[in-house]
Amino acid sequence: MFTNKTKSLLLSGVIALSITSCADKHNNQGTEFAPNMYHSVGYEPLSQSEGDTNHINPYGMNMRLPVKGTVPRRYYGQQAKTDSIDGDLLEMDLISRNIKAGDMASSEKLLTNPFEPTEVNLEAGKLQYERFCQHCHGEAGKGNGLVAKLYKGVPIYSSDALKNLNDGHIYHTITHGKGRMWAHGSQMSSSDRWKIVLYVHQLQQAP
Ligand code: HEC
Repeated sequence: MFTNKTKSLLLSGVIALSITSCADKHNNQGTEFAPNMYHSVGYEPLSQSEGDTNHINPYGMNMRLPVKGTVPRRYYGQQAKTDSIDGDLLEMDLISRNIKAGDMASSEKLLTNPFEPTEVNLEAGKLQYERFCQHCHGEAGKGNGLVAKLYKGVPIYSSDALKNLNDGHIYHTITHGKGRMWAHGSQMSSSDRWKIVLYVHQLQQAP
């Protein structure tokens, strides 16, 4: 059936195959070119590498500081840190942190705005309002932001029901949310929340 030539060809093929397949080199990938591209040094993100500090980032840090203006995220329900070490703001923070999310009445009674409605503070409040509230509540607080078209039930600040809401009530609403409105206490410092309150008071009086 097979000629001698074919037989010897087949035989040498089988031999060659058995030699290569028996070689004890299954896991050897051969010579690696630029091995440090495959085997990188692991840096712990929240520490400085010991001894040989990171020469690329400032202060030898392995992870860079967040970009200026980064919005802090915390667990839902947890309040952002106070940005004061003394004074009225800290006092209000301490009181507010002891008021439970369901206790609007205590906020209304015990909390007053530690910031005066100066031009600078109102301007700062407006900026935060534009970032966090306007898409629902609308530019003038008339409940007609773009999101409100789909997310129904956004009220009008200057309506009879809302025009007299006091400092504590508004601050509590921002911090813990109310009804269909979500809590914002984890996303904004307390001073930003208080400055928004100043600005919302202005919108309550808007015709
Ligand atoms: C996702 C949309 C949305 C965002 C964002 C939002 N709100 Fe609201 N807000 C609502 C809705 C809806 C209600 C009505 C809540 C209810 O009574 O169910 C409401 C109610 C309120 C009320 C009235 C509370 C009351 O006692 O009736 C105030 C004051 C208020 N929001 C302020 C703010 C401020 C300030 C911000 C920004 C920090 C903000 N809201 C962000 C949707 C939103």
